[in-house]
Parts: sequence; structure tokens; C-alpha cells
Amino acid sequence: MDSTGDGIGDLNGIASKLAYLQALGVDAIWITPCFPSPQVDFGYDVSDYENIDSKYGTLADFATLEKLGAQHGIKIILDFVVNHTSDQHPWFINSRSSRSAEKRDWYIWRDGKAPNQPPNNWISTFGGSAWQWDSKTNQYYYHYFYPQQPDLNWRNPEVASAMYGTSEWWYQRGVSGFRLDAVDTLFEDPNLTDNPVLPGKNKYGDPNTENKYTHKLPEVHQVMRGLRQVADKYNAVLIGETWTENVGELKDYYGAKHDELQMPMDLMLTKLKFDASVFREHIAAVDASGEWPTWVISNHDIVRSWNRYGDGKHNDQIAKDMAAMYLTLRGTPIMYYGEEIGMQNNDPKRKEDVQDPIGRTGWPEEKGRDGERTPMQWNNTPNAGFTTGIPWNPIPITYKVYNVADELKDPTSILNWYKGLLALRHVDKALLDGDYVALNQDDPNVLSYLRRYQEDAALIVINMSASPQKVMFDLSRQGFSSGAAKTLMTTQSSLKNASSITQLSLEPFAVYIAELTR
Ligand code: GLC
Repeated sequence: MDSTGDGIGDLNGIASKLAYLQALGVDAIWITPCFPSPQVDFGYDVSDYENIDSKYGTLADFATLEKLGAQHGIKIILDFVVNHTSDQHPWFINSRSSRSAEKRDWYIWRDGKAPNQPPNNWISTFGGSAWQWDSKTNQYYYHYFYPQQPDLNWRNPEVASAMYGTSEWWYQRGVSGFRLDAVDTLFEDPNLTDNPVLPGKNKYGDPNTENKYTHKLPEVHQVMRGLRQVADKYNAVLIGETWTENVGELKDYYGAKHDELQMPMDLMLTKLKFDASVFREHIAAVDASGEWPTWVISNHDIVRSWNRYGDGKHNDQIAKDMAAMYLTLRGTPIMYYGEEIGMQNNDPKRKEDVQDPIGRTGWPEEKGRDGERTPMQWNNTPNAGFTTGIPWNPIPITYKVYNVADELKDPTSILNWYKGLLALRHVDKALLDGDYVALNQDDPNVLSYLRRYQEDAALIVINMSASPQKVMFDLSRQGFSSGAAKTLMTTQSSLKNASSITQLSLEPFAVYIAELTR
């Protein structure tokens, strides 16, 4: 929400919407980087970790937001960009100034392999070599993201202590925790071993490589423990942007002694297709790890969940199915703003309209991330009520239907479905703390499970298919022999008063959530 009319959301804008967030059932908000930044990567290039960018407000506004947040029962989580700084950060300005500069070793500087040849074959995830030649000192520096985002050298203890100190600086100002950006890439092989080359090219035309020597090196865990030690002094939470390949890697991020991240994000979920069997298998694997899951279905880097899981015809229903699933699983769900109203991607139509630099380098295959970052749609007035000025990123015309004000009035809206689920989560012991028990595991269409807590259980049934389905439950083994149930929530009106779960007839994409009684 923009409070100043400059077309950009800001802290006072967020503060003005706390009542909405509270009514929605949000307990904490993660704000993407709002620190001073040249904005090459929309704030993920930080030039001062201990301040607020004037675009978004001031430190005083931040303090007000925290205070008002507390009054609404909402905690504030900041985004800590730990892998790299902006090339305009004073640390880098010093580092690049000479080979003997005080902070030279705070970044990763190396000689080329030969004239005009970078040190090795490492590729930036945003395209091209990850090494940038700097003619001032005739060396290359390493940047896994944009060249304006030089990687910090976490092998230097001064870097580690400066960064730990920054986290403490914010804890002392009342921040409840951090979402840690890009933790997978904190360390690189000090011998600069080439990454193995794979067949084919990526969307920027670079050879595909396996990230063997640049990703998830064991040293990462040492830093997670270091950050956790500071966090523990303030009872703060650490949430990780953890792009893991499998559940084993995800489990590692909690720490062997539970001394790393309390909440590494399960971003694997965002890559799965909408399919009951696929989800069931994934949930079982995550559950078997024994950790407390952190579910994520969308964020500012990937296509919106409404589009990604949707089949092009039943996207609203599928959005409700996804919400029913990840808001009732054991764990903590992290929502992306606008997901609760079914916001849709609005990808640029022309290359010249793209703002996110990767959308220009990768056009047309990669259109960048503008499409999932459009302003929140508050109502059906011009600019969706987000700003009185020109929105920084164009709003899709669908805002006329998909907006907070109109959806609040419609009992069957996606928004009211989210509100209902979140309200239930806050009061239902089984949904909060219950075990996950998979049911009807051979059913390819309907995902069903129990959340069981002592004598209580909630039953969740989601038809993930476009056809009607019949399901039967025999829960005698789980100790619910009667089959008696009380509907808690459903998308299907004929099930509102269902009292038995022995057999259920489900409409396409229907959701049924019930409390079981013994
Ligand atoms: C993370 C952020 C992304 C950013 C990148 C570099 O992946 O989510 O938006 O571009 O890190 O900081």
C-alpha cells in the first residue's frame, strides 16, 4: 500500500493495513528488503543494512509500524540479504579501491585464468559469468547474482561478525526475526574448481552446469549456527530461503542439534504439479523427517500460485484447494500477499516494459519477475486502491473482480475461504499441533488426511480432480469407529450439514474439513 502517492508501497502504507492483516489471520509479516539500495535487484542489493530506504520511509516509521503491529498481534520479520551487498555499499567501495584496502578480503577477488579469462566456469544465476572484471585493480570479483551484487567473503571472520552484529542491531530494535536471503550460496570452493558442465544451455544462453562447488557447501551450516546463536538471545526466528533438492537437504538446515534455522522454507512444494498423489508423497517425506515444516506456495520470484497450479479453467477452485492443503498441514504456512484474493501474474507484454533486469536479458523465455510483483488489489477503483499516483508496476485488469473490498462481501470468495481457514487454525488444537495421518493413500484424485491431537482429530478431504469423486473412510484403526463428523468448512454446500464420513460424494475440486468425534 502506497501512503505517499509516488506509486511505490511503503511502511506507512503497510501500517495502514494492519487491521486487514489481523482480520485475515496473519501473525507476522515478512517485508522484502526495505533498506537503502540502488534498487538494481529491487532492494536485494543493500547499500546500508542498518537503515530504511527513503522510498519506503524512515527508521521512525519502522518503529511505528512495529508498535502498531504489536497492537494488532502482528510481528515484523525483516529480509536479511546475507550472501552479497550492493556494489554501492561502503564495504565494497572500500574493497574495490585497492588490492591492499582494509576490506579487500571482505569480497571474493581473484586473478583471471589467463588474459581476458575469468578464474573459472562459474555462472551467475542471472546470466553470464559469475566473475566481473574490475579494471581499477585488475582482478575479478565473484557475484552469484547481478554484477552489482558482489558476494561477501564469509570465510573472513570480520564479515561474519559484522553481519551477526547487524542482525543484533535489528533485534534490539524489536524485529522478531529474519527471512535469510540466498543462504544456499554463501560459500564457494576456495580452490575455485570448475562446476561440472551438463548438456544444453540455460535461458540466458549459458552452458548448464551442476552447482557442485558454489551451492550448499558444508560451511553454510556454521553460519546458520552463528546467526542462530544471536537470534536465540532475542528469542527470534530464522526463516531460510532454502532451495533444496530433497527433504534430506531441507532437514540439514534445521541443524543436527536443532541449532540452525527454525524455519527453512520448503520451496520444493512450489515446483510440484497440482496432483493428489504428488502432494501426498511429498508431504509424507517432509513429515517423516520429523521436523516442523514451513510451507510455501508462492513468492516474489516465481509465477503466482493461482497461475502455476491452475489448469486454466478452475483456477479459483484450485486456489482454494491449495489453501485448504497448506493451511491445514502440520507446520507454518507462509503466504505471499495477494495470494488470498487470487491475484494473478501480469507479465510484461513487451521487452521494453520489463523492469527486472533478468527479464531483459532472458526475453522472451524469461520475462523477469515483474508479473508476480504487481501492487496489492485493495478495491475496484482506479489502480486497485493501491496508490493515488502511477503504480510502479502495472496492475492486471482482473483487479476489478479480484480485490479485497469485493471479495470481503462475497461469502464464496477466495479471500473468505482463506480467512475461514486461518481462523480455524488459530482455535483448532488438532490443526495447530496434531499429527499428520495420511488416509486413502491409493486414491489418485482425492487427498485426504487427519490431523490428530490426543482425542481430537480434524479430517481434511480435497478433491484435486475435475470430476466428481466418491470417497469412503474407515477410521476404526485410528480410533474413530463411528464415522460421526461435524463439518468445519467446505466449499460444497451439500456437505455443510454432513454428519457422517462413511461415504462422501465430492464435486470437482471440492474441499471438506470436519471435526471427528469418537
Ligand atoms: C533471493 C530473492 C530474490 C533476489 C535474490 C538475490 O532469491 O528472493 O528476489 O533476486 O535472492 O538477492
